[in-house]
Amino acid sequence: MKGLLGRLFRRKAPDGLSTPPLIALAGVSRAFDDGAIVALESVDLAVHAGECVAILGPSGSGKSSIVNLLSGIDRPTGGRVLWNGRWIKSRRAWARLRRREIGIVFQEFNLLPTLTARENVEIALMGRGIAVAERRDLAAAALVRVGLGHRVKHLPYALSGGERQRVAIARAIVNAPRLLLADEPTGNLDSANADIVADLLFNLQRDGGMTLVLVTHDDDLAERCQRCVRMRDGKIVDNGHARGRLRLVEGPPMPSEPAMAAIDQATPDVADIVPPSATAAPLTEIAPPIAEATAAIARVAAAFREPAE
Ligand SMILES: Nc1ncnc2c1ncn2[C@@H]1O[C@H](COP(=O)(O)OP(=O)(O)OP(=O)(O)O)[C@@H](O)[C@H]1O
Ligand SMILES: [Mg+2]
Repeated sequence: MKGLLGRLFRRKAPDGLSTPPLIALAGVSRAFDDGAIVALESVDLAVHAGECVAILGPSGSGKSSIVNLLSGIDRPTGGRVLWNGRWIKSRRAWARLRRREIGIVFQEFNLLPTLTARENVEIALMGRGIAVAERRDLAAAALVRVGLGHRVKHLPYALSGGERQRVAIARAIVNAPRLLLADEPTGNLDSANADIVADLLFNLQRDGGMTLVLVTHDDDLAERCQRCVRMRDGKIVDNGHARGRLRLVEGPPMPSEPAMAAIDQATPDVADIVPPSATAAPLTEIAPPIAEATAAIARVAAAFREPAE
């Protein structure tokens, strides 16, 4: 727990001039249908550790394509994707990065319907050799961080849209990733919940020293980032550097060692967090058929399995 909290609170000074970008696209293209559709064309983008970058652009301009390449979910048809200056080529290397260094939040939440909030977060910790009890505690602590300590045993259907997205954020940050990617994270939310989720993302980015790449249609949301990258027709038309890549909003200082120990101490056990009334619904009441859920879980488990050497 200590190690995880340490990583969550650690601040990294962005030093774009002397260190390679945390993640970069170098001359990246992505075509579909044998080149008939060009989603991205010769895109150069460097994101340095600690940056908070918005990606803006009309529908179809290539924003999600960029997020899919930055996370290694998709592969470019031309150019290179570099992590810390290193060209990442293999699926295995990308899978490892996603498990340890990259968290992703999608517009549609993507929670498994028959798993509780905590189990949905625990999924991100599978395949890392973490003991079950520690996994549960880490997942519960992540839910506490997003303000859902009282909802750990709830199933997604019993949560509001904003709460579901906060579970998805907890799942994305439970590994204390260095890079947090969010693709229209407020797109399915009403304005009140959108504000809560946006505040949460910016606070996590600031307090944890994470690097945040946020895709949005919302100019006001983008304005809250330190840099706005604008896209059109698969190209970056403004890389946002004019706004000052190193212009960082100063957050509170990193807690001292004793303060960290106190935070650790104060992080409640699951048993303390869950009120007796917050038990999950019996299996028989769960709406989606169990078979469908089992298949979904198997698919997720397969995705988290270590690829063979
Ligand atoms: N798997 C795919 N097969 C074929 N074309 C694709 C595929 N994925 C994306 N595209 C095309 O690539 C282009 C860019 O898509 P992308 O999803 O990146 O846009 P976007 O900027 O995220 O749009 P939106 O704001 O609507 O989410 C679009 O023309 C889209 O139809
Ligand atoms: Mg998109």
